[in-house]
Amino acid sequence: MKNILLSCLFVLVLSLSVNAQEIKSPDGNFKLAFHLDKIGTPIYSLDFKNKQVLQDSKMGFILKSDIMLNKDFQIIDSELKTENSVWNPVLGEQKEIRNNYNEMKVALLQDKSKRKMLIYFRLFNDGLAFRYEFPVQENLRHFIIQEETSEFNLTGDHKLFWIPGDYDTNEYSYTTSNISEMQALVYDAVHVPLAAQSTIKNLATQTPLMMKTSSGLYINIHEAALKNYPAMCLNVNDKTFSLSSHLVPDAVGNKGYIQTGSFTPWRTVVVSDDARKILASKMILNLNEPCSYEDVSWIKPVKYIGVWWEYFTGGGSTWAYSDNQDVVIGKTDFSKLKPNNTHGANTKHVKEYIDFASSNGFDAVLVEGWNEGWEDNTAFKKEHIYSFTKAYPDFNVKELNEYAQQKHVKIIMHHETTSSVSEYERQLSDALDFMTANNYNAVKTGYVGPIIPRGEHHDGQQMVNHYTYVATEAAKHKIMVDSHEAVRPTGLHRTYPNWFAQESARGTEFESMEGIHPDHTTILPFTRLMGGPMDYTPGIFQGDLSVYGSKKNKLSTTLAKQLALYVTMYSPLQMAADLPENYIRFNDAFQFIKDVALDWDETYILEAEPGDYITIARKTKGKQEWFVGAITDENHRTALIDFSFLPAGKSYTAIIYEDGKTADYKTNPQSYNIRKITVNSKTKLKQNLASSGGTAISIK
Ligand code: NOJ
Ligand code: CA
Repeated sequence: MKNILLSCLFVLVLSLSVNAQEIKSPDGNFKLAFHLDKIGTPIYSLDFKNKQVLQDSKMGFILKSDIMLNKDFQIIDSELKTENSVWNPVLGEQKEIRNNYNEMKVALLQDKSKRKMLIYFRLFNDGLAFRYEFPVQENLRHFIIQEETSEFNLTGDHKLFWIPGDYDTNEYSYTTSNISEMQALVYDAVHVPLAAQSTIKNLATQTPLMMKTSSGLYINIHEAALKNYPAMCLNVNDKTFSLSSHLVPDAVGNKGYIQTGSFTPWRTVVVSDDARKILASKMILNLNEPCSYEDVSWIKPVKYIGVWWEYFTGGGSTWAYSDNQDVVIGKTDFSKLKPNNTHGANTKHVKEYIDFASSNGFDAVLVEGWNEGWEDNTAFKKEHIYSFTKAYPDFNVKELNEYAQQKHVKIIMHHETTSSVSEYERQLSDALDFMTANNYNAVKTGYVGPIIPRGEHHDGQQMVNHYTYVATEAAKHKIMVDSHEAVRPTGLHRTYPNWFAQESARGTEFESMEGIHPDHTTILPFTRLMGGPMDYTPGIFQGDLSVYGSKKNKLSTTLAKQLALYVTMYSPLQMAADLPENYIRFNDAFQFIKDVALDWDETYILEAEPGDYITIARKTKGKQEWFVGAITDENHRTALIDFSFLPAGKSYTAIIYEDGKTADYKTNPQSYNIRKITVNSKTKLKQNLASSGGTAISIK
């Protein structure tokens, strides 16, 4: 009798523990609890330092049509695993990355349908990640996702740094508000001019979503390893403070075509009570697969200038060779067209850029507008819009590449697709062969406007697959890729390191259009850059565009802040975006851009507060050399730069590029001062930053 009682008790304890399970992070600070509720819905919650971060949140899917893969489950197995290893990124913010987590894998089975699903939870010392697996099984093979039902139930009315939920663009300005204020602000946030917009009708936001709680906790939600799946936006319930996944649909409203034997991307929740640790987190990279290429010797950081900003200044330079809008690719003989004489990408002018790049130590020159088809490039519905192998008559491919080679400079290829993706895929193989034949090793791709195939979205499953396809095809040709307007990155540059930068956010080009807010670059590292490097294209010294004639725009920063961005906005691809004439004019400040490194042994986040300020120091890869960048929003401030990152017992010369005493981004942006001081590991520098100002420091 006693034995029977004991074994009953044992079964009871076992089933309780099977139904409710928890794991902790390696340092014990995070606790993940998982259980099934009364109707068999998977539920998780997350604690950090004994405080709740996410309340009970549901998980699962609704499949087409109305197949509920979010209830009626039982737990049939669970497994624990620990990982603690170190790996080296090809290019990066630090040369070594530790991957340390505790994992729990839970196998679920639906009672009646016998459908199986697995959930993986990983707790790192910087947060939680989870993903789903659809194992090969008898009762499920090919299926369509109607919606993923993952929730992130917040504990209160947190402060959010948000852009509106949208299937096609991330180029919005950030709004900072509490969740309960979003509804009142969303109309203005959404009604802005952008080339392709598909805003979500209900209250929703993009990831990476940065939040701050009233008790000072920082929470960042995003995803990692987005492959063969649509990107995730988040529905926002402003009454219950609940977020839920909202996948980007395809042209007919479906949200993912899945074959069993596959995984979803990871959902990531990075948490800290110190904002600096959000920026230091490498969780998203750790969740991506290791580099998939054997030989990576050809993947290098690139510092470049370009025939680019002159198209934005209002000075009259054009991408197009002629003003004839009736051109047809393959039919029009461009050599017979009347040139408009404003075409920027002409051989003589490109040679001037090559000369400037060469004499100032740049790796490359981007040339936009080199190829046939720019005449009607705002004709978003036109499918055969560009040739990617035919240059305009005044752009001599062979001559320019020979010239560039002599000068030890590369030309960066440009493929603006105007989102005619079907046509781009048709031409891609020829375009890559053309690049190889002509000595190009990097391409900037662009996806302005709505996608063709019509009705598809920039961030849907088909386009997600397209971007990866371009990166991996380019790799076969040893070509690096910088994509603009593509889906926001999710750490895939670990797996495909030749996809070394993306735009996927509001970049410097907007300084010449509707503008950029002074706090924008203090938010981007906490949002867009959580997924990967950004080709932000800083370095504008002549910020008052009225000098060029037709525009009135004024830069949202001081000149010194433009310099600091090379350190605060991590990217192995960095542009000096302004015109050479402005760099000649401010030659002493230009020295910082010439000197600054692009690839790093170590990164030290010294100060950070989203929306307010960021101060970062980095050590150059393989050199005893450091760079510091400090930026602030519209409020001037004193940055406290602690040099304890320097090796003890040695002194170094620091060159400080700082805002002048009267600098102010509105009234006196070009006032700066350069001075030299001696520093050592004990130095603590109080450094003044003007409103929307900055400081850049190089240390040798
Ligand atoms: C948008 C890109 O962001 C910009 O850099 C480029 O110049 C234009 N498209 C034209 O391709
Ligand atoms: Ca853009």
